[in-house]
Amino acid sequence: MKREAKMTLDREFQIARIDPRIYGSFVEHLGRAVYDGIYQPDHELADEMGFRRDVTELVRELGIPIIRYPGGNFVSNFYWEDSVGPKAQRPRRLDLAWKSLETNQVGLHEFQHWAGSAGADIMMALNLGTRGIQDALNLLEYCNHPGGTKYSDLRISHGQKEPYGFKTWCLGNEMDGPWQIGHKTMEEYGRLAEETAKAMKLLDPSIELVVCGSSHQGMPTFPIWEEHVLDHTYEEADYLSLHSYYGNASGDSNDFLAKSNDMDEFIRMVIAACDYVKAKKRSRKTMYLSFDEWNVWYHSKVADEELTEKHPWQQAPPLLEDIYNFEDALLTGLMLIVLLRNADRVKVACLAQLINVIAPIMTERNGGGAWRQTIFYPFMHASRYGRGISLMPVLHSPLHETSKHGAVTDVEAAAVYNDEQEELTIFAVNRNLEEEVTLRTDIRSFEGYKIKEHWVLEHEDLKAENSLECEKVRPIRVNRSRLEDGYVESGLRAASWNVIRVGKE
Ligand code: AHR
Repeated sequence: MKREAKMTLDREFQIARIDPRIYGSFVEHLGRAVYDGIYQPDHELADEMGFRRDVTELVRELGIPIIRYPGGNFVSNFYWEDSVGPKAQRPRRLDLAWKSLETNQVGLHEFQHWAGSAGADIMMALNLGTRGIQDALNLLEYCNHPGGTKYSDLRISHGQKEPYGFKTWCLGNEMDGPWQIGHKTMEEYGRLAEETAKAMKLLDPSIELVVCGSSHQGMPTFPIWEEHVLDHTYEEADYLSLHSYYGNASGDSNDFLAKSNDMDEFIRMVIAACDYVKAKKRSRKTMYLSFDEWNVWYHSKVADEELTEKHPWQQAPPLLEDIYNFEDALLTGLMLIVLLRNADRVKVACLAQLINVIAPIMTERNGGGAWRQTIFYPFMHASRYGRGISLMPVLHSPLHETSKHGAVTDVEAAAVYNDEQEELTIFAVNRNLEEEVTLRTDIRSFEGYKIKEHWVLEHEDLKAENSLECEKVRPIRVNRSRLEDGYVESGLRAASWNVIRVGKE
């Protein structure tokens, strides 16, 4: 029998206006993300500052509004003063997080230039591992104060007259993790974050602050950590962070594609923790979420340990270079759907990361070309067409069985109404690996709309990968949606990512 899913959309059923920063990403001084990634001064396509034009162009294709920088674990032993001023005088440092050599040839000024050319703002992360309040204030003064003070004048003496004006700041990174340099108990971190936040907002009240939540849902202190840290920081912080990576180490693809349900559940639990503290404090303020690390990550893990343990202190070693396949792209699409459906609370999200390191964009080693991984495409589609209002889809889908997640829906979907362009985009994944599903969507409230296009990502081999030579997984435009009497009927092939766009002509 034909499998059918039904969805109702109404322009008045709205979750929230989408904060564009949910299409953020992340560049850490890690592996070949910066050196041999965005920055290769001797590459034939390098610009006058040493950044590769072809890589910048690919980043622009993704339409990323904000990039978290410079870490990650790296930030917890980062000395920002080493990364500014004349390049020849910048010291080399041991990066303890990734057991690598940091040359500091790309620092704040260079990264700001590059991010600007890629169309992105910077979400600056602070070292609350080996450093603290004083250092955070110095850095904020260097970046955001107009001039006439020690650190703002230092910036000006480095050739940057205008302040950078960074708006969004992370108060450390994964401070609950024993792997973190300067790892803290929830009490230690809660107090430090509170006092740092207070002082930073005295210096620049226009900034927004992200306080560290748990490193992932499986941490033994989750969600007590959230409660404790928010007890200290509820009034000063603007966002609580979440991190999550998923993998298919067991090779069970059917169950792997159900893992977006875990992400959704994680978000709901963190919202519950935030709202519990809100109630305890009798606060009128709502805490928003910054999902500032999310992706698939598991392909590279074993090889990395070999490299960092047996051959430490290399410059730009190839770390975390996951090569993604088609099923990873499907899960990426599913995770984007989850973020869109939680747009009322998730205001910032960062695909971790951007270049070479668990990334949608890869560069070949030794000056070769740049190419798009499979996960590039769902992100590009969502970032390009997912601007406007996230609608509340009422979705009824057939179910299929999985090994660890029980019965899950075949179809997951989100819908975005772009009220400026009068367009409606449906993002839908059919995660049933065997059966095609017909999705019948009621869009009667969008009078006069017509089908514009239907894009899909599909491949007969779930393990198909892209490379510089061959893009096996790339979007194709299909003719599988039709609109009749206010209903869109779309054929969703087994294991497919679909972008169905309707609008006024
Ligand atoms: O993104 C890679 C690493 O994962 C980050 O440095 C860290 O924050 C997380 O554990």
